[in-house]
Amino acid sequence: MTNVVAIINQKGGVGKTTTTVNLATALAAIDKKVLVLDLDPQGNATTGLGVPKNRGIKSSYGVLLGLVNPEEIVTETYIKGLSIITSTIDLAAAEIELSTQHERDSKLKKSISTLEYDYVLIDCPPGFGLININALNASNRIIIPLQCEFYALEGLAQLFNTIQGVRNTINKDLIVSGILLTMYDRRNSLSSIVAKDVRSHFHNLVFNTIVPRNVKISEASSHGKPVILYDIKSAGAISYIELAREFLSRESK
Ligand SMILES: Nc1ncnc2c1ncn2[C@@H]1O[C@H](COP(=O)(O)OP(=O)(O)OP(=O)(O)O)[C@@H](O)[C@H]1O
Ligand SMILES: [Mg+2]
Repeated sequence: MTNVVAIINQKGGVGKTTTTVNLATALAAIDKKVLVLDLDPQGNATTGLGVPKNRGIKSSYGVLLGLVNPEEIVTETYIKGLSIITSTIDLAAAEIELSTQHERDSKLKKSISTLEYDYVLIDCPPGFGLININALNASNRIIIPLQCEFYALEGLAQLFNTIQGVRNTINKDLIVSGILLTMYDRRNSLSSIVAKDVRSHFHNLVFNTIVPRNVKISEASSHGKPVILYDIKSAGAISYIELAREFLSRESK
């Protein structure tokens, strides 16, 4: 069975794309067959993997709206075992186009149901629109990146309400694999206060792995590379390799 994992948080800039790209790379490195589905009109996962964007329906836009067979538009990346369905700005119109369609919440689920991978990782856009409802419906796992900053917990309740709503109505099998603390700055006491706070609320739901704030991560994305390939010895790369290990061990429980 293909495991479909939504990397989601309605907040912008919390590390969703970075997590998608690096977890995907780490899983591919241990011989898993992995597909990144870039479901964000910004297309940062596409750029972050150094892949040119396809236009029109030969992209996640076409997949989301059920206009194309996803297998026909998968692009292989230069990383062995890692493929991507790229995004384009056309996806920005999909919310409106979906809104008038029959079974608008299940379009993506139907579209990707025949894909055969070990893992499909969906890089979700910020917000709570129909694109994200489709992502949650099509997934069986969720990873929630959470930036270690003052307002981190705000909004999380709303995200869990949305997840529960999806479980109650269209996808009862949806499981939160974990909350991932990102951009942790050990020189800033606020980071450790936030981390403690999140753990005291969510206990084991929080991954033990913490992604530190690490300049190599932002440098890597500007070079169109996952940090794991840009600088394998960096603290950022090590943390994402550790995340892959922890994610898989949670899967096997
Ligand atoms: N651990 C980190 N250390 C330093 N910089 C980071 C780290 N994680 C992410 N960044 C940088 O922060 C910015 C936001 O990260 P990212 O694009 O992964 O967030 P996002 O949640 O996908 O954003 P959006 O909501 O816009 O899609 C990027 O420039 C990225 O390179
Ligand atoms: Mg993103």
